[in-house]
Formats: sequence, C-alpha cells, structure tokens
Amino acid sequence: MSKNLLVLGIESSCDETGVALVETRHEGVPVLLADALYSQIEMHQAYGGVVPELASRDHIRRVLPLARQVLDAAGRGLGEVDVVAYTRGPGLAGALLVGAGVACALGASLGKPVLGMHHLEGHLLSPFLSADPPQFPFVALLVSGGHTQLMRVDGVGRYEMLGETIDDAAGEAFDKSAKLMGLGYPGGPALARLAEQGDGAAFKLPRPLLHSGNLDFSFSGLKTAVLTQAKKLGDALDAPGVSGASGASAKADLAASTQAAIVEVLVKKSLMALKQTGLKRLVVAGGVGANRLLREQLNGACERQGVRVHYPELHLCTDNGAMIAMAAAMRLQAGMQEASEVYAFDVKPRWPLDAINLAPTLSRSA
Ligand code: KG4
Ligand code: ZN
Repeated sequence: MSKNLLVLGIESSCDETGVALVETRHEGVPVLLADALYSQIEMHQAYGGVVPELASRDHIRRVLPLARQVLDAAGRGLGEVDVVAYTRGPGLAGALLVGAGVACALGASLGKPVLGMHHLEGHLLSPFLSADPPQFPFVALLVSGGHTQLMRVDGVGRYEMLGETIDDAAGEAFDKSAKLMGLGYPGGPALARLAEQGDGAAFKLPRPLLHSGNLDFSFSGLKTAVLTQAKKLGDALDAPGVSGASGASAKADLAASTQAAIVEVLVKKSLMALKQTGLKRLVVAGGVGANRLLREQLNGACERQGVRVHYPELHLCTDNGAMIAMAAAMRLQAGMQEASEVYAFDVKPRWPLDAINLAPTLSRSA
C-alpha cells in the first residue's frame, strides 16, 4: 500500500453508537487518531433491556454529530477520509442498517469506497489498539453479550473456531442472572459490582461442560440454577449473607458465586485451548473482557503457564467505533480486502465469524 489510508469507522450494531478515525501506517499497526462513543444505556434502562426500534432511531440522531466530533478532534476534514467502514453484522438489523446507510451515503457523496465489517472481527482485533499489541498467532477468547467463542487466530482474516457456546453467551449469563436478581440493565457490570462484596464460594453452582473434553461452552443451566437459588432464598436475598462475609447480603453472595462459576469455566477452557494449540499468547476481547475477576484469574493462570495475555483497553472492551476502523485498516493494510465503490448495501444480523475467512481450508477442529 503506497499511501497511508484514513479510515472512518462506524459501529451501530446494538446500543452504542461509535465513530472513530484510524490511519494505516506504511509499516506496523494502524494508529487511532480519534474516537467518540454515545451509549444508549440510560434510554434503555427504563425498559430493562435494549429496545431495537429505539436503538435504531437513536443511532440516526448520534452518528453524524459523532463523525463531526471525531474529525474535529483529529484535525481532519471529511474530504480527507479514504475509506468509510461500518459494521455489517452481526447485530440488530435496524441498528445495523443505520450505520450501513450512513456509511454508504457518505462514501457515495465523497466518491470514496466503503467496507462492511464483521463486528466480532472488530472485537478480536481491538487489542491492537493498545500500546502493547499482540503478535500473531494467538488464541482468542471472545466473550460478548451474544457470543462466547475460542478461536485460533493466525493473522488478519485467518480465524479457526475451536469452540463456542451451544446456548447462552457468557455475557448473556451475566445479564440474565443479574435480571433474576433485580439488578437491572446492563446486568454484567452491575452483577460484577455487587459480587465484589460477596463470597464466591457461598453457593455451589454448576460449571457446565467444564469436563466435556472439548472447547464448547453452555451457560443456560447456570442461569436456571441461579433462578432456583434466588427463588429458594425469596425475601432472604436481601438478608445478611449465608457466608457470613462482613455486611454482605445473600444476594451479593449469589452474585459472587455466579461470577465465580462463569469465570472458572472461561479460564479453564482458555487454558485448554492454549494447551491444544500449543500457543503461548491469549487475547481476550468483548464486553465480558472488562470483568475484573476474569482478568485477575486469567493473568494468574497464564503467568503460571508462561502465557502472555492481551486485553483491549478497558473502555474498548465493549462496543466502539475504534475497533471497526482498526479492523478495516488492518484488512486493507494486509491487502486482504479492497473497499468497494458499490454503495448498495445489506446487513447480516446473523453472521458467523469464520464465514469471512480468507483461507477456506480452515475448519472447526474441536
Ligand atoms: O461486546 P459487548 O459490548 O456487546 C456485544 O457485542 O454483545 O458486550 C456486552 C456484554 C454484556 O453482556 C455485558 O453485561 C457484558 O458484556 N459486560 C460485563 C462487564 N462489562 C460488560 N460482564 C461482566 N463484567 C463486566 N465488568
Ligand atoms: Zn460487541
């Protein structure tokens, strides 16, 4: 690639509107120049979860002002943008259509090409936005609200699925358990906060598929066990905890026990994936990657195995535009893909990550 490319990235797959500007470099990792995010959390809180139609309408309101903000922050003009990248899927159809529509309209009006990106590839490559980017190959633990996957990553566009959830995702297990405990939306961070006060050993909860011998996950049984436990406790949920931890309620103990179960499965399966592949590098991405206990336990376990762990910066664990701009810039820089000057667009609400592989021989091995 002869000239550095300025890539504008737009993320609108769920409840966050993200826009960012990334520039490719002749050598090395592309550089983030500016990013901006608008979270719709407050708007959806009243409904206890994401309302897709409200999400789409709010993306429409936010996306252009955020693009302006990002260009101003980087001191660049819209006319300088070389490629407009957007999240094509997976995600909420209406929300995706907003980002895709705006990106293609911008591209058409500027006479610049567009690139539809895979949201999970954005998460997967988000640690490259950190000051200490990983090197290929690595094992990736992708833990978001909708996905839980272990992948072998040999390069940009070379993703091999090692294992994934057969039902709920890890983020979903956090969110649904939090809802059962009346912790509202978004449940993951709320449950994690309450868990800080509780005792993770207070309740014996299942560790589904821990000894299955493969790298698949299952979290729906855990949610049922949490429900059964919460029902059994009834009003006692708010009483002092069964563990006797100072001042902690039974609810805090249940939150801590739920978190401990999810984290233990994620850590053990990640170690299994590292052992199976013989790789010594782990990348953790997606919203659940922000979880403090998960980071602590992965760090400890990996240190003992001589494995280096990379995370995205904390604020880039959840959805953002920077990861979309970065993934697009890396694809372009690696010569893997060309941006298109066809502005007709579609979105892919369901879209497996290995469908975008450049090496068709890669296949599921576990
Ligand atoms: O990657 P993300 O922002 O969106 C999707 O692509 O799904 O992930 C959101 C998920 C939610 O399930 C949220 O509850 C969870 O990440 N999450 C957390 C934490 N922060 C976000 N789960 C546990 N602990 C956290 N600190
Ligand atoms: Zn996401």
